[in-house]
Amino acid sequence: MTESRVANFGAGPSALPESVLTEAAQGLLNFNNTGIGIAEISHRSKEFGAYIKDFEEIIREQLDVPSTHSILFVQGGGTGQFSAVVLNLLARHRLLHPDLPYDQRIMDYVVTGSWSKAAADEARRLSAGKAMLNIAADARGHSADGKSFDNIPPHSAYKFSADPALIYYCENETVNGVQFAHEDGAPTAFPFHLLPKNTLLPLVADYSSSFMSRPIPRLADHAIVYAGAQKNVGPAGLTILIVRNDCIVDVDAAARLGAVPVPIGMAYAPYAKNDSMPNTPPVLAVYISGLVMKRNQELGGVAYYEAVNRRKQEKVYEVVKEGEAKGVLRGKVKEGSGSWMNIVFGVVGDGAEGRFLAGAEKKGMKGLKGHRSVGGIRVSLYNAVTEEQTDELVAYIKEFIAEEAAKPAAVPAVET
Ligand SMILES: Cc1ncc(COP(=O)(O)O)c(C=O)c1O
Repeated sequence: MTESRVANFGAGPSALPESVLTEAAQGLLNFNNTGIGIAEISHRSKEFGAYIKDFEEIIREQLDVPSTHSILFVQGGGTGQFSAVVLNLLARHRLLHPDLPYDQRIMDYVVTGSWSKAAADEARRLSAGKAMLNIAADARGHSADGKSFDNIPPHSAYKFSADPALIYYCENETVNGVQFAHEDGAPTAFPFHLLPKNTLLPLVADYSSSFMSRPIPRLADHAIVYAGAQKNVGPAGLTILIVRNDCIVDVDAAARLGAVPVPIGMAYAPYAKNDSMPNTPPVLAVYISGLVMKRNQELGGVAYYEAVNRRKQEKVYEVVKEGEAKGVLRGKVKEGSGSWMNIVFGVVGDGAEGRFLAGAEKKGMKGLKGHRSVGGIRVSLYNAVTEEQTDELVAYIKEFIAEEAAKPAAVPAVET
């Protein structure tokens, strides 16, 4: 590793493979032997056109995306999609059911953390007077203290509508460290079996912080899966969408029937018609993300990352348990609901969190401070965080536990 680089456990933007960065530095000067750098070349050039096509093909192959779905590259991040999914799917619903009164045009939201809550808030804001929100489940009602996002709710908690305009969930809650299990039928898996039947479901999943870290369960049953690139795939600026073709609709025809008008940069159809380039795409972010995906493919693709990521998270959860047993650490998420990508825990004792972070920093491990709304520590284990770096972190946590456990107990011990 380049001498000055550290182990980056940050939640995003986050670590990228060093070999990709070295290659990208070359591309900045000369993209694919064109003599023009990637940040300077026209997105209409045949070289960039071929590159973005290849990138799309790798994603399709890696995730086994069916031909019923298009892959789109847009800008605006996850937050842009909080709005875009609502506007495009309300337009679709209007075309399907032009005359429904607003209180029968329902959007189902599953709220398991701060990102799905933010998405639900945006849906409420955009749809005022045009549609109603149904919170199909809210994890806070099932938490230890009645107000924290520390769990995936039990299947008995979900109340889906009969024919909603959209059904929304966030697969991995980056801030809270809560993730749906991906084994079909697990008590904390997404309850696909409870969804309404006999219809092309408008099921939307935010995969921003788990995209490409393991396969997507029941991908073909989704209307839209989207992800900002800046965790597992590349730099910020690129958002990747997998959209079922019946959800790419004529938003102007829907607006004529009374749907909320869709800003042109947020409508899916122009992206689908123009190979994701109705306007200038984020060329540099597409390039670096493409390099990451090519490397992934050489390593064995999403199956390879699933195996490595499984081991990485097992090791960290195990050491957190050891710390809990010794009264030094405290897990913040219920068993079975813990994320593979973002592991959050508290450090018990006066000033202990500061000592933990300072000790990690000394060893060249950064980005471990938890989100301000949750506190404590957050370890993000995205694809580019290596198993060796994870092992070094685990060794450090073990050392820390031993040191803290040897101290005379401060009374009363409180979590910082
Ligand atoms: C799960 C999830 N959804 C949405 C967002 C918002 O993404 P952006 O910052 O790209 O708007 C984030 C950001 O970290 C996220 O982790």
